[in-house]
Amino acid sequence: MILGAGPAGLVLGNVLVDNGIDCVILERADRAHVQTRARAGFLAANTVRVLERHGLADGLRRHGHEHSVCEFRTEDGRFRLDYSGLGTGEPHTVYPQQHLVTDLLAHYLDAGGRIRFGTEAVAVHDADTPRPSVLAREPDGRPVTWQARYVAGCDGRHGAARRSLPPGAAHRHHRDHGVTWLGLLAEAPPSLDAVGYALHDRGFAGHMARTSETTRYYLQCGPGTTADPSPGESPATGPAAWPDERIWDELALRMRAADYGPLRRGRILQRTVVDLESDVLEPLRHGALFLVGDAASLISPSAAKGANLAVLEAEILAHALIEDVKNADSAALDGYSARCLAYIWRAQEFSHWMIRLLHAAPGSDDAALFENRLRRARMDALRTSRTRQDWFAENYVGV
Ligand code: APR
Repeated sequence: MILGAGPAGLVLGNVLVDNGIDCVILERADRAHVQTRARAGFLAANTVRVLERHGLADGLRRHGHEHSVCEFRTEDGRFRLDYSGLGTGEPHTVYPQQHLVTDLLAHYLDAGGRIRFGTEAVAVHDADTPRPSVLAREPDGRPVTWQARYVAGCDGRHGAARRSLPPGAAHRHHRDHGVTWLGLLAEAPPSLDAVGYALHDRGFAGHMARTSETTRYYLQCGPGTTADPSPGESPATGPAAWPDERIWDELALRMRAADYGPLRRGRILQRTVVDLESDVLEPLRHGALFLVGDAASLISPSAAKGANLAVLEAEILAHALIEDVKNADSAALDGYSARCLAYIWRAQEFSHWMIRLLHAAPGSDDAALFENRLRRARMDALRTSRTRQDWFAENYVGV
């Protein structure tokens, strides 16, 4: 049984069904919602290889495009890194996550995969016994219990899998980085042929291409910013504080459009608030319950690793389950958690480094001034040291 039909759940489901292993996906949302939710979009070369191995890469090969340049804009000027000529020499493939999810779902259904939309998993019971089960709520609200030999929790950080871990079953490593971004999807073509990272006194701004008509932008904003208005909310923190014009003016200022060229403006289609957090559960297994993707670990979007880790972990779990079910060999299942955690912590370490590269320490006390001098030196090393650039490129595209 698989909980959740994001990239993790759908890659897992596809590999299992293609190998003749029966499974059911329970997905809380309806199909339209799953196929239109805009999230990540930068796929690492290894992610593309995983998807290709399982015949899941047709859409991204046809409609995705390669991307390999990032541009940093700071108080000391700007510089570009073409990371396909550095490190392991690989580019990203840009393909919006909702398109990938649409492809994965179509492939899964074509292969005869079973999925229940509008069905929310409520709890996983008895995961450490020979008879694990999942309590779920059907679309009409009726409770239903499913028996399963194994349960893959691919239902994100607020899902039932995490909630069902008994106290003490896993240690939760958590770090709030104290930085909030407004994540924006603009109905506008990309404004530069690179991922843009702008550091400014007023805070960070980011630019990431999605399609020829849409672009993702990020704006660092004050803590306590909310995208969904709640009754009585202060206009300083609610969405009313961020009308389209203010967003574009702020982006133009921080990205130094006056020096480096104007931004192509358009309607803001989506605003979300992203608190930069790291969150890792350890171990990723409790009896028959395995955690995958965002349910296993949360990573800040600064280094575009979340969806890539989800795909990688899903493939590792799929192979381990196939070995167990077909060959009665449980060694790979036993090693699942340690193997995935090694990738997760590598990604966390790089993401943590990126956060400290892209954001000034708040305040003006000695500690903040010291941190900010280090940040500037870090950026200078990236601008001038080939060794540092190779290291950056390898980690930036790798998972
Ligand atoms: N029962 C059933 N489904 C659930 C439940 C539940 N209790 N809770 C959540 N879900 C579903 C969500 O509706 C969603 O479709 O689980 C799915 C989880 O998908 P994602 O959030 O995309 O997580 P994952 O597959 O782990 O992919 C992680 O993708 O979206 C990015 O930022 C994310 O980069 C990260 C990566």
